[in-house]
Amino acid sequence: MTDAPLTDTPLVDPSPADPVADTITLPPVAPAPYTDQQYPEGRPGGEPLAGLETREVSAWFGSRKVLERVSLAMPAGEVTALIGPSGCGKSTYLRILNRMHEMVRGAALSGEVLLEGDDVYRPGRRPAEVRRRIGMVFQRPNPFPAMSIQDNVSSGLKLAGIKASKEERRHLVETSLRRAGLWDEVSTRLHTPGGALSGGQQQRLCIARSLAVSPDILLMDEPCSALDPTSTRRVEETIAELRGRLTIVIVTHNMQQAQRVSQTCAFFLATHDTPGRIVEAGPTEQVFGSPRDQRTSDYVNGRFG
Ligand SMILES: Nc1ncnc2c1ncn2[C@@H]1O[C@H](COP(=O)(O)OP(=O)(O)OP(=O)(O)O)[C@@H](O)[C@H]1O
Ligand SMILES: [Mg+2]
Repeated sequence: MTDAPLTDTPLVDPSPADPVADTITLPPVAPAPYTDQQYPEGRPGGEPLAGLETREVSAWFGSRKVLERVSLAMPAGEVTALIGPSGCGKSTYLRILNRMHEMVRGAALSGEVLLEGDDVYRPGRRPAEVRRRIGMVFQRPNPFPAMSIQDNVSSGLKLAGIKASKEERRHLVETSLRRAGLWDEVSTRLHTPGGALSGGQQQRLCIARSLAVSPDILLMDEPCSALDPTSTRRVEETIAELRGRLTIVIVTHNMQQAQRVSQTCAFFLATHDTPGRIVEAGPTEQVFGSPRDQRTSDYVNGRFG
């Protein structure tokens, strides 16, 4: 898609998620107990990791344009941080990446979102399949509170149409909880409700739930903003451990966090009610250490926003 003139008609189908999800073949899992050797870096079967790229993405809510031609490459296996003042369009951009933007009535967009070079908005592509490959973790941990920890983790399988035997399911629950850095804290109480965990543990449970369907990309919208400093650290450690296994895009208002967890950073800005756009993007060290744009320098040094 190219940047199109403003239209009342959304450029993408605004209907909610596909009621019938694709049936996806479960990646091969060994039924033996977990050992590190079974889970080498990268995707099952040694496939290369998938990167994400947007080209000239613009977005509207009704007649109001909120994003202007955002082009950004989010490298495979790395963490990309999106920073910028409130209202500049970071969450909107994140929701465009996995086709959640179109669930808002009156929302429209133009441009391309390429997952491994293939546009996720290509006609005929199913939103449910895109959302399985590009998972999302939200600001507030949102496990199913009355559902057991293990059922929370495996709850996405059914939605994604992934068929798994009881043993495969048990194995996936353990693997996902280990990868989310939560296994050691919950392995003896997998049948207890997810809602009984601490906020930080609930957020890692949500990460485990996302990981269970083997996404290529994990989107995180301020995943630590509702957490205390210790839980925040733990989630950051989890992000660091996941790096190299999948591609992560994280929105954060915490400049230290962006520097600690990301390798690439993009600074978004919307001034005087103009749509949000990227002022500067590049290696995190450069964006923070020697920004090219004065506005980036002012923002990362806490002079506004
Ligand atoms: N559902 C919606 N309907 C109409 N306008 C919306 C909707 N969601 C967001 N907007 C508008 O789009 C713009 C971008 O909002 P967005 O939530 O993407 O910003 P943000 O950078 O994530 O902000 P914050 O840091 O506060 O989370 C804002 O002007 C906001 O008011
Ligand atoms: Mg937001």
